[in-house]
Amino acid sequence: MADLTTNYMGLELKNPLIASSSGFTDSLEKLKTLEEKGIGAVVLKSLFEEEIMHEMEETFTKMKSENFLYPETHNYFEYEDIEDTLSQYIKLISDAKKELSIPVIASVNCISNQKWTHFAKELEDAGADGIELNAFILPSDFTRTSEENEKMYFDIVKEVQKHVSIPIALKLSYYFSSLAPTLKELSETGINALVLFNRFYSPVFNLKTMKVTPSHVLSSPSDIAISLRWIAIMSGRVNCSLAASTGVHDGQGFIKQLVAGADAVQISSTIYKNGYDVIPGMLNVLNEWMDEQEYETINEFKGSMSQKEIKSPAAYERVQFMKYFSEK
Ligand SMILES: Cc1cc2nc3c(=O)[nH]c(=O)nc-3n(C[C@H](O)[C@H](O)[C@H](O)COP(=O)(O)O)c2cc1C
Repeated sequence: MADLTTNYMGLELKNPLIASSSGFTDSLEKLKTLEEKGIGAVVLKSLFEEEIMHEMEETFTKMKSENFLYPETHNYFEYEDIEDTLSQYIKLISDAKKELSIPVIASVNCISNQKWTHFAKELEDAGADGIELNAFILPSDFTRTSEENEKMYFDIVKEVQKHVSIPIALKLSYYFSSLAPTLKELSETGINALVLFNRFYSPVFNLKTMKVTPSHVLSSPSDIAISLRWIAIMSGRVNCSLAASTGVHDGQGFIKQLVAGADAVQISSTIYKNGYDVIPGMLNVLNEWMDEQEYETINEFKGSMSQKEIKSPAAYERVQFMKYFSEK
């Protein structure tokens, strides 16, 4: 049996397979099952910045209406007072920390560096081993420049770093005009990991009802390609861990992301499609492959197919299908 232990964002993982943020990481029961099946770490379902702000605003309004809100109240604001979503999330973290032995990473879906960032400290105090910031600003605002959009990611990181000392991961999209330099620059802000990439709600429309509907909520194995290319390009060139996300559905995809240079690999859709048993299945494939190749540790092969390491790095730069079907 090979040694699958790995270090991801400063956390010791028994193996590099992580359950990414999804409906499978929103309750203690499901988290326990993920651990029983062998997962190396879990990222909890995201709290949305809007949820945090909404609950804060509701509580402030209530306090104000009861003549309880003095300017200094903000400084002594106890998040335990905010009920429902936030306290349930805090409870999930502390329960998970009591019941599980694997790292528990909290997740916040954010689009700004506004007041919500204070709440990050509550996640740390509840026992979260790390925080994943699922940050995305759709570059669809015609009045905003690319510099303004990119600056927002740096501002979010800076603001959250003021409040927590646990490791921070940034889960991103590939909608950046200069992706490689931006990822590198973000990795140098002191964050501990980049997660490449998130997958988003994508609208299409139904031609019968003429209504906008979500499409392809779950990924398929071919969706691995974008993440695989960028893990391979960024491996060895960033100042933090890399986690691969999107389109990893089986043991082969898992191994490919590791040889591309991922320190950890996140999965969601494959659990939805194949059930919890896909986890031991993927770990077995990795174990068998490592035995066959006579690898004893992950570090012996991690990044061996990255752009920095392979003999023909241009393979990762090729983008046009020059002669692909010309013989047909
Ligand atoms: C039903 C569902 C809910 C999700 N919820 C979140 C979420 O709250 N926060 C987040 O960062 N990602 C969320 N994701 C995205 C996943 O974490 C993951 O990045 C994405 O599904 C791509 O990985 P996959 O191909 O392994 O599914 C969700 C995905 C699914 C399918």
